[in-house]
Amino acid sequence: MNPGRTPQHCDVLVIGAGAAGLMCALTAGRRGRVVQVIDHANKPGKKILMSGGGRCNFTNTGTSAANFISANPHFCKSALARYTPADFIEMVERHRIAWHEKELGQLFCDISSKLIVRMLLDECQQAAVRIRTDCAVEGIERGADGFRVRTGHGLFHCASLVIASGGLSIPSMGASGFGYEVARQFGHAVLPTRAGLVPLTLSGRHQERLADLSGVALPVEARCNGQAFRNFMLLTHRGVSGPAILQISSYWQPGDDLRLDLLPGHDPLQWLRDMKRERGTSELRTVLAEVMPKRMAQRLCEHWLPDRPVRQLDEPQLKQAAALLADFPLVASGTEGYRTAEVTLGGVDTRQVSSSTLESRQVPGLYFVGEVLDVTGWLGGYNFQWAWASGHAAGQAA
Ligand code: FDA
Repeated sequence: MNPGRTPQHCDVLVIGAGAAGLMCALTAGRRGRVVQVIDHANKPGKKILMSGGGRCNFTNTGTSAANFISANPHFCKSALARYTPADFIEMVERHRIAWHEKELGQLFCDISSKLIVRMLLDECQQAAVRIRTDCAVEGIERGADGFRVRTGHGLFHCASLVIASGGLSIPSMGASGFGYEVARQFGHAVLPTRAGLVPLTLSGRHQERLADLSGVALPVEARCNGQAFRNFMLLTHRGVSGPAILQISSYWQPGDDLRLDLLPGHDPLQWLRDMKRERGTSELRTVLAEVMPKRMAQRLCEHWLPDRPVRQLDEPQLKQAAALLADFPLVASGTEGYRTAEVTLGGVDTRQVSSSTLESRQVPGLYFVGEVLDVTGWLGGYNFQWAWASGHAAGQAA
């Protein structure tokens, strides 16, 4: 602790001991740079700890630029190419952390995400990186010889300053708009932010008709603004969640048309015709309950589909029912917001940042890494891969 005015010197000061900040710190430390990390939270890597249901979906083997949303879609390519999922897997294996692939290239720890934080802290220690938690930043000034950062733990002086303070999601875990304020202070544009990978809320009739199905899950294809994700949807008390909805939420904004294919992988018209021929006396709700949860089938037939034996449906009615099953309009009223969102869309405009070093194009020595930037991944380990890759790129340059 150094509450006085004598600055504590380091080559690289990283603000934010999350995924990107720790990776940047250990990379710069390995190069022999004197690195200090500070964080206002009481311990490092809090989001890593809570990620992936406690098992951290730490990367995705299929990561490419196509899995990210940004106003500048090419920006992430350089860093992603220079630090790949295989590079992170190599570190995980070196630390003897057991892992498994769940689905679609998503890699999880077998035991606990604590092991990922432990690994990063061990690597930082080996690289002589110093870490201070409970350390709030009070102000940043730039002089001819670098940056002066005033904190509750005294004054720090550094040649390179790395902003790794993340986005706005889960404020209870230490998330803050700090990085955006620093960006603006140094003349950077910040693109509008909104919650991503977030449950959607319903209101009005949809809410009334579906709220008591909370807990029911079914496979769907969720479609919005030219994007489609096939996975599970979960009905909740307030609306809809589950991987298909979280994914599409990053492409949805209030007022946008959101559609669900409730029988993904089926041709619903052909299927209904087959049912009429083979099971004509059965109620539509009964045959539907064989391809989706019974309560959902019942609810659809109470409010949206004809509640009759299938043989009583003529061809136009079959077509109408098939169209609804394949293209169900879901009227979302909003999102659950940053309280539950996994990520923040938007952020520091990447057009003023070097894609190879992550250094500001306007302020030499200032770097932005991780989620604070306008680079947001899909659900499935992509966001951590971006944090590792961008942290690594800056750590090699800072
Ligand atoms: P991150 O948020 O990790 O770290 C920022 C750090 O900066 C924090 O330690 C914070 O305390 C600190 N900070 C903020 N303001 C500060 C200030 N003013 N002063 C000092 N320090 C400050 N992704 C994925 O790929 N796989 C997964 O399994 C999951 N799971 C998941 C679950 C949940 C519940 C959430 C909320 C998110 C995920 N994610 C995820 C997303 C992933 O956690 C996220 O994209 C990365 O943690 C971003 O890494 P950063 O280092 O950029 O920010």
